[in-house]
Amino acid sequence: MSGRLVVLASGNGTNLQAVIDACASGTIDASVVAAVSDQPTATALEHARAAGVAAIALPRREGEVRVDYDTRLADTVAQHRPDWVVLAGWMRILTMKFLGCFPDQVINIHPALPGEFPGTNAIERAFDAARAHTGVMIHLVPDEGVDNGPVLGTTTVLINPGDSLELLRERMHHAEHELLVTTLSRLCAQEVTA
Ligand code: GRF
Repeated sequence: MSGRLVVLASGNGTNLQAVIDACASGTIDASVVAAVSDQPTATALEHARAAGVAAIALPRREGEVRVDYDTRLADTVAQHRPDWVVLAGWMRILTMKFLGCFPDQVINIHPALPGEFPGTNAIERAFDAARAHTGVMIHLVPDEGVDNGPVLGTTTVLINPGDSLELLRERMHHAEHELLVTTLSRLCAQEVTA
């Protein structure tokens, strides 16, 4: 049986697009059944609409506390009965109010290797640190820890002498798309037990 994916994205949605394309080509045995964004104008929602995927804008209400937002988010996501919830550039830290509804089902992409540069601007920080390499990881999100759940896959990305931040960013995004597709295709084929 083919899997059901709900993707949460706050921004451009290039990872969402990579997953939509891989589902369409059969590389991932699943469908993206909904894309949800906390940013109503996110390009990610346009990618979803263009692909005929339910595109749901769920902005935080004024004064709304995190647990209340996460309750609404969990209700919205649950309506789509996901096998996997994919955080693809989702810029809000999720509380257990949400995560407790989807145990062992939430995965996140982080543009750094395990234990390195948790939080925002990881690519910039690796570039500024003048490292020889950085990388990408996909991990489970069991709790409120930031970018530190059990690792499902990693890719190393070289930082070449003379690289600009833009070049590195492009190489990283390419690596993210590949790793996300490979990981989801394994998860949906149940080759990996979460
Ligand atoms: C990616 O670099 C992801 O790792 C990070 O946010 C970015 C999202 O890119 N958490 P996109 O919206 O999928 O293009």
